[in-house]
Amino acid sequence: DMADKAKMTVDPSFRIAEIDKRLYGSFIEHLGRAVYTGIYQPGHPSADEDGFRKDVIDLVRELGVPIVRYPGGNFVSNFFWEDSVGPKENRKARLDLAWRTTDTNQFGIDEFQKWCKKADTDIMMAVNLGTRGTADALNLLEYCNLNTDTTYAKMRRANGHPEPYGIKTWCMGNEMDGPWQVGHKTAAEYGMLAAETAKAMKVMDDSLEFVMCGSSNIKMPTFPEWERVTLEEAYDYVDYVSLHQYYGNPAGDTADYLANTLDMETFLHTVECTIDYVKAKRRSTKQINLSFDEWNVWYHSMDKDNEKMAREPWDQHPALLEDNYNFEDALMVGLILITFLKHADRIRIACLAQLVNVIAPIMTDENGKAWRQTIFYPFYQASKYGRGIALECPLASGKHDTSGHTDVTDIDATAVYNEEKKEVTIFAVNRNMMETVELDCDLRAFGNSLRIGEHTEMAGYGINEVNSSADDRRVAPKPVADPADALSDGSYKTALKPLSWNVINFRIEK
Ligand code: AHR
Repeated sequence: DMADKAKMTVDPSFRIAEIDKRLYGSFIEHLGRAVYTGIYQPGHPSADEDGFRKDVIDLVRELGVPIVRYPGGNFVSNFFWEDSVGPKENRKARLDLAWRTTDTNQFGIDEFQKWCKKADTDIMMAVNLGTRGTADALNLLEYCNLNTDTTYAKMRRANGHPEPYGIKTWCMGNEMDGPWQVGHKTAAEYGMLAAETAKAMKVMDDSLEFVMCGSSNIKMPTFPEWERVTLEEAYDYVDYVSLHQYYGNPAGDTADYLANTLDMETFLHTVECTIDYVKAKRRSTKQINLSFDEWNVWYHSMDKDNEKMAREPWDQHPALLEDNYNFEDALMVGLILITFLKHADRIRIACLAQLVNVIAPIMTDENGKAWRQTIFYPFYQASKYGRGIALECPLASGKHDTSGHTDVTDIDATAVYNEEKKEVTIFAVNRNMMETVELDCDLRAFGNSLRIGEHTEMAGYGINEVNSSADDRRVAPKPVADPADALSDGSYKTALKPLSWNVINFRIEK
């Protein structure tokens, strides 16, 4: 009976691509409590000599985040970066128009660089193409990356940073297709500006990579024409097109919520095809890839945030976008990560939006500790086990329909082969709400060398169960001690519980 059985083949010869570690990137925006009382809180018991919360740094390192996008987001579109450097006592506050907040500029470019070193991560820097433009982007690049005897390189050295920062990946603004964006542009205007800015920045440093803004989500009325027009202007100068997408379940329809990765598949496929169309039209041999640099679940806090911004603007670091994630959100994040792995040949960068306090896996209590949300765990496991070669895994599963989607597979799954560590890991979600599904995996290509390593599941929770600072392991992966978990002659069978996220790791012993 196909309703409760699924089959998958895992073979190390069938490679999609080597996974770019930046697939496990994240994002810190000057928004809410991401920076102030998030990563930066002088006076907090865990703050170090720079005012960085060590409890937060520990959790960021635990997640294994290789790159962090900064400083926005919508914030960047009216960011005056030079306000944020130099002696702190001279820094002036400025209004942040994106989130109707006052930013004191006590934390800026240099602090972020220092924090990234401590958190063991790289910077993905966004420039302001909203209210500013090419000249300002060049000044910021000179400040960060050059060691010349000119104004901005000198300014960095005078501020106590003799070594250039060597920031390699740069975002050409943020969501420039969005009418909400300060300095929003048409596709033709933005394509030209992105091209000219990237071209000029490359003269200063030709090792840089550029991410051009794609559509802010799949429902934008200008999608996918925006991608075509901007690429026709900028194809020769940029390296990645960005995608952003958030999901939510405001209707409380879990089955349909968990089917949203079908739309994500369509989004990815359409952007890939649009890039390749422009490539063909231009007779280009250059390959442009994807930067999915904002993705997550985001909806729990929205009404409250809109109310706050409308009625009480201009506070310093108010609590905004503080979604408290539940169990089904963790399943959704797991499904998104599986979708990314299947597109590892085109997605070279992805940023979980965001990292701390603002729609984030890591939360902080201002007067207490840092803690892990439910979504922390699937991201942690994918970042830990999802390094190496993404494998093409044929999968047959029963299907169901939901209110907004048809032919939704019960199981979504994929596998990653890590040659160096000699391990292979299966990631699988059962999004059937009722049935346990028996997964039958053909692993014969590995011969008799496989041993079951760590096998965990997140299952059996109520869909609305959440974590808190008092208990951040309430909703978390638990080891499976399953007598039905059998591996023999390259055939592996396991039972995937209804509504479950499963990570099954095998060691390859030779
Ligand atoms: O991540 C929150 C916001 O979502 C970002 O500032 C913006 O780019 C997107 O709309």
